[in-house]
Amino acid sequence: MMAPPIKIRTDSILAKPRFDREDLVQMLTVKEDREKHRIFRKAYETKKTFAGNVVYLRGLIELSNICRKDCYYCGIRRSNPHVNRYTLTREEIVEKALWAWRRNFGSIAIQSGERTDKPFIDLITDSITAIRKETSNALGITLSCGEQTLDTYRRWLDAGAHRYLLRIETSSEELFRKIHPDNEIHRYNDRLLALENLKKAGYQTGTGVMIGLPGQTTDDLANDLLFMRYFDVDMVGMGPYIPHPDTPLGIEMESQKTEIPSLLPPAERFDLSLRMIALARIMLKDVNIVASTAMQVLDPDGRMKAILAGANVFMPNMTPKIYTGDYNLYQGKPMVMDDPMVAVKELEIRLKSVGEIIGYGKWGDPKHYFKRTQ
Ligand code: 5AD
Repeated sequence: MMAPPIKIRTDSILAKPRFDREDLVQMLTVKEDREKHRIFRKAYETKKTFAGNVVYLRGLIELSNICRKDCYYCGIRRSNPHVNRYTLTREEIVEKALWAWRRNFGSIAIQSGERTDKPFIDLITDSITAIRKETSNALGITLSCGEQTLDTYRRWLDAGAHRYLLRIETSSEELFRKIHPDNEIHRYNDRLLALENLKKAGYQTGTGVMIGLPGQTTDDLANDLLFMRYFDVDMVGMGPYIPHPDTPLGIEMESQKTEIPSLLPPAERFDLSLRMIALARIMLKDVNIVASTAMQVLDPDGRMKAILAGANVFMPNMTPKIYTGDYNLYQGKPMVMDDPMVAVKELEIRLKSVGEIIGYGKWGDPKHYFKRTQ
């Protein structure tokens, strides 16, 4: 008689002080709903213990969709001719920041396509300086503006930004090579170096990955989590991969005539993303984790589910409405509402029902940063 298969006891893995790769793979793949919910419950408990029953806001400003890069997955890649390119003016950026400040958001996040030209670097420096001045340093500023030199990172920090999110996209160098062109401006090692430089400059530093990329294995995802722990990140921003039809990866997926294994169905990609968030929370404890917009694209209640799986940051989109349709990194991105406050209020009601509050007026810095640098 064959021996029965060994039953995975999620409980016994969750009780461990430190997970190894095998533990993570088990928890990323365990099928039973009961076991899965143990992971989410533990993650949410960990969030409450180490980050409180609070969700912090970052008003999101998508500063420019002009990009020097040509990533195979991204809708605003340089070679996509269907994008109507824009760059906000300093006045528009400052106006949005002041809007967020007046509504007590506590922090903003400035995101952009990757550019390294001087007008771009100056625009960001000047905008940060103006925002700091006009809010008497009251508003926290996160940047997500790609790979830059240490010198540029320092300039923006000196101007008054203090957090920076740069996704490694995948910690697997092999997969990284498959989803980026093979040239000087898309190098895995340069991205790593940029992350190092962010820490060196003194930022609260965040990274993250896309989840459910074609060709990505659960081993890769387990390694992504180990990478975040090894790199000792302060913040995590990650979400599901969502194909964009005007990209090489999106087209290949549609036609299916590809060597790349086909895409996981949306519900599975969502589930995997939720597990990644939960495991990141359990492993990294006192960091900030974003409930990303991409989560909301795959599930109408995605952001709330992300929070209940350990996320503690929400980024309402404040990009001027005329431009939001042009910042489509992936298909199906929700349009911005006339008033971003509507999304905040909606979330606030949901949060209240589980005893969570919104951290109005707070920067909401991750405790991890202060421990790491003390
Ligand atoms: N699906 C999901 N996320 C994407 N990003 C870019 N393209 C996609 C896509 N098709 C993410 C990348 C990048 C961030 C700005 O958006 O992780 O770092």
